Amino acid sequence: MYLIETLKSIKEENLISFHVPGHKYHPLFLKELEAFDHILQMDITEIPGSDDLFHPETCLLKAQEEASNLYRVKQSFFLVNGTTSGIYAMIMTVTKPGDKILVSRDCHRAVYDGILLGQLNVAYIEPEIHNRLNIPLGLTLESIKVAVDENPEAKALVLTYPNYYGVGCDLKSIASYLKSKNILFLIDAAHGAHLMLSDDLIEPAEKYGDIVVHSAHKSLPVMTQASLLHVCSDQIDINKLKFMLKLHHTSSPSYVLMASLDIGIHLTKVHGREKMKNLLESIYQFKEKHKYFLSQEDLPENFYLDATKLVLKGVDSNLDPRNVEEKLRKNNVQLEFSNEETAVFVTSFMNEKADFDYLTKMMEMLNFKCYSGIGNLANRMKLQPKMSISDALYHESEIVFLKDSIGKISKSYVIPYPPGIPSIVPGEMINDNIIDLIYKWSEQNFHIVGLPESNGDLKIEIVSLKEE
Ligand SMILES: Cc1ncc(COP(=O)(O)O)c(C=O)c1O
Repeated sequence: MYLIETLKSIKEENLISFHVPGHKYHPLFLKELEAFDHILQMDITEIPGSDDLFHPETCLLKAQEEASNLYRVKQSFFLVNGTTSGIYAMIMTVTKPGDKILVSRDCHRAVYDGILLGQLNVAYIEPEIHNRLNIPLGLTLESIKVAVDENPEAKALVLTYPNYYGVGCDLKSIASYLKSKNILFLIDAAHGAHLMLSDDLIEPAEKYGDIVVHSAHKSLPVMTQASLLHVCSDQIDINKLKFMLKLHHTSSPSYVLMASLDIGIHLTKVHGREKMKNLLESIYQFKEKHKYFLSQEDLPENFYLDATKLVLKGVDSNLDPRNVEEKLRKNNVQLEFSNEETAVFVTSFMNEKADFDYLTKMMEMLNFKCYSGIGNLANRMKLQPKMSISDALYHESEIVFLKDSIGKISKSYVIPYPPGIPSIVPGEMINDNIIDLIYKWSEQNFHIVGLPESNGDLKIEIVSLKEE
């Protein structure tokens, strides 16, 4: 048994978690499971006495109502296929094939797949990049206004809030502008399920979006894969949404996952605000000692930082973020992600002060390598779309050496993981900047999804225009 052996060996490391899932293996969560001797006892299906996720009438109906009360939204839906399924459903609920939507080009791959599934036309909007720190920030109202002027027929806009680095844009003015233009606002708030827990945090997406999707599993005490979709305005056709949710879900939703959402919502309701206050206190103290983590002062006007994300700035700290991740792991701390520029630590209100005390000790005790990043993210965002995603995917293809692909149209996604933002989307024209970046990532052994197997030099699948 391969998986079980791996899980056992990771368990033995007793890791302190600054990564997802948000439950952080906390005793409060485990205590709720005490009624069960074994997880198998929770693994039921739709039998008399349970409920039906797609026609909830009893326990699931009540549990979903608890979620909508917690978030103060019109209606909430449990998702057992991650935020990915919610993103597909929200996009396909507000559009029909052939419609146009506006998409921030730093969205997670699920958004581009949603465009493909919904057979949509898309106009991308380039996000702002923090050039010195080399992190994506998000959209400005001005860039959205330009895109709307150029695409007045757009039905909806999709953006991520907050992003992987905890940076959020000016939702309030964006929402009010979109409303004035009759464009629906769809927010991928995968990283923002906790923002309603304190007035000291940036505003929650559900206050401004028409539909919002939360990866509850990332920042709440909830098991991996369990997410929430919220309807926040009366502009949404609920019957169509229910159809789309069903379309993107298994017909055998796991009660283990749904129960974990129920537990998470309960724990958040009972302990969330108080434990969030404690978490923020621990973070302020930690950042007081370690000044080289991203702060609001680093961000330009109209961008806001989720204080629960700790982002190590390689350039300011003179530390190599990948080496920080490597050395911390050897000392039983796992963070979320690192590259040559930054390291991201994901906290949740399930992190206790002791976690930060241990992290502080390790940051002071360990010797890390020096920063060596060179900061060129801004270039990779600017590829020209030459074909729709679906035209590219269904087109004849050929495989060429990456170095020979300048000016060719990509047939595949090329995605460094994490964070899962495609560097190349099918249909985009490959340029020399992106090729340089992929070679660099490859030399550094980054996990890149989408390049065909090759023993020697890197290759890429492109749209074949031979006969045309
Ligand atoms: C911004 C963003 N959106 C969507 C997703 C997909 O969420 P899930 O893994 O819950 O399907 C992720 C996953 O990391 C993400 O970072």
